[in-house]
Amino acid sequence: MIRRYFSSTAEIPKAPPLPRHIAIIMDGNGRWAKKRMLPRVAGHAVGVERVRDVIKACTDRGIEYLTLFAFSSENWRRPAEEVNHLMELFVMVLEREVKKLHKNGVRLKVIGDLSRFTPRIQELVTQGEALTAGNTKLTLTVAANYGGRWDILQAVDAWRTAHPRSHHITEADLAEHLSMAYAPEPDLFIRTGGEQRISNFLLWQLAYTELYFTGTLWPDFDAAALDAAIESYQKRERRFGRTSEQLVKP
Ligand code: IPE
Ligand code: IPE
Ligand code: MG
Repeated sequence: MIRRYFSSTAEIPKAPPLPRHIAIIMDGNGRWAKKRMLPRVAGHAVGVERVRDVIKACTDRGIEYLTLFAFSSENWRRPAEEVNHLMELFVMVLEREVKKLHKNGVRLKVIGDLSRFTPRIQELVTQGEALTAGNTKLTLTVAANYGGRWDILQAVDAWRTAHPRSHHITEADLAEHLSMAYAPEPDLFIRTGGEQRISNFLLWQLAYTELYFTGTLWPDFDAAALDAAIESYQKRERRFGRTSEQLVKP
């Protein structure tokens, strides 16, 4: 049987020198625009360009999984005008970029409660995932209407439906039903924009992820900024609960 699940708490993982999986909260678009006396949406538009750059930088560096927080389950609380604009941007990006992703060997996955999106967005997501399903260079996961608490709850529900007579859920049971069960836990988490919080992103999966916070606003985050984050990651000692002395130095 293929092992789909490797847990940083159930077993001691290897700490790869290059992160296999990077997860990013792309924050600071609004402030970037405000600084330039532009509408917030201008920041989101430039943010899309950085998404393109970071995907390319990750494929160039041999990163296997990149996960981007595009819209949280709490972002519906924003003014309707901004929410609508973000939805339009999402449609535009899906329409324009998926073919390019496919050409570059990127597998697209979208996680989150998609039922709240328009049928058009849902259709584009389904098509994009199907088109790119066989690609192996990079798995790009976009989290949209995603919340870490929602993810854990939907995993419990899915497990309960699959095992109606079981009462005891294990860590592996839950992890297998999380929406990103196909990916290893992130090695490196990056949040741009200066805030030092998780904002209901990958609550379960970040258990032993190295956290990196930078004041750089997302529309300014380039390949060099990504390298700085990776460099910081490479200086960390990932002990997973052990002492320094227990780590076998290569
Ligand atoms: C992140 O930038 C993008 C989304 C949440 C969609 P923000 O829009 O949160 O930018 P700031 O935090 O207001 O600067
Ligand atoms: C987190 O950013 C969500 C995304 C980047 C999609 P927010 O800007 O919504 O986070 P808070 O509200 O500052 O915590
Ligand atoms: Mg923000």
